[in-house]
Amino acid sequence: MALAIHFHEQPSCERQSSLRDEVLAGFSASPKQISPKFFYDRRGSELFENICRQPEYYLTRVEEQILSQAANEIVELAGPGADLIEFGSGASRKVRLLLEALHPSSYLGLDISQDFLLTSTQRLAADYPWLEVHAACCDFSEQVELPDDFQTRQPLAFFPGSSIGNFTPAQARRFLFELHQLLPSGGSALIGVDLVKDRKMLEAAYNDRAQATAAFNLNVLQRIRNELHADIDPTRFEHRAFFNEAESRIEMHLVSTEPQEVLIEGRRFHFDEGESLHTENSYKYSLEAFCGLARSVGFDCIGRWTDAERLFSVHFLRKP
Ligand code: AVJ
Repeated sequence: MALAIHFHEQPSCERQSSLRDEVLAGFSASPKQISPKFFYDRRGSELFENICRQPEYYLTRVEEQILSQAANEIVELAGPGADLIEFGSGASRKVRLLLEALHPSSYLGLDISQDFLLTSTQRLAADYPWLEVHAACCDFSEQVELPDDFQTRQPLAFFPGSSIGNFTPAQARRFLFELHQLLPSGGSALIGVDLVKDRKMLEAAYNDRAQATAAFNLNVLQRIRNELHADIDPTRFEHRAFFNEAESRIEMHLVSTEPQEVLIEGRRFHFDEGESLHTENSYKYSLEAFCGLARSVGFDCIGRWTDAERLFSVHFLRKP
């Protein structure tokens, strides 16, 4: 039996045209770059789930531990009857830790990967028959918007995983500003943020031994091959990830192993040997820096939790 979820068509989810235009623009730029949002086709979303299981990738493990320990306090802050809105719901695993404690009447999952979103929200609906499950495909790097016909009086916006780290601090501020606009006063947000730490541990998390991160990074080239008219060979590129301390971010690149020409949609792009395509930034914050950002757009930081080693943090923000 297919379980009923409420799926909301979003006009902003025109992903195909944006892939073509953004890839062409990004390959024409210098240095070459592409937005990390394009990692998440179905295969990419699966590869990301695999990263989350790697021993070096502490983010998921530690965040889940923090959430399960803080669940009761979170529920107290959010108040009874808060509805959950999850940004970048992916496999919708972390939200289960909250659902059980919060027992909201409705849940809205937002994600850029539409078919992955549908599968995982259907699974949620099957597992929580008492929950009204909504889903909407959305690219919130463009604008934060909720479906018009999703009504809630007391939303709790949940943005886990340190996905906010994909934004530059200026973009993160903009995102928080829009989120603040979107919430009614008294509304809350729960945001997972990875913390600055020892370079070795950061770099290990993005260079796991099983090569899960490399496969995830390289998959974006396979996606370009599959979805655009492209002649580009993923085996001629290598995964590279390192901590850029001055910018407080992990950078991921795909580095050309030889001089080569690639063809995309009839356009030719040259790569020198060692030339890179910049595929992702993942910003790392201090506790104070993140709260400062949230406060600067009008939120109160009313709760925050970390693990004993201070690897990861979860912040509870309230719109006064
Ligand atoms: C989903 C953006 C939080 O930056 O750690 C994982 C994506 N990239 N490994 C991160 C990612 C490489 C992840 N975020």
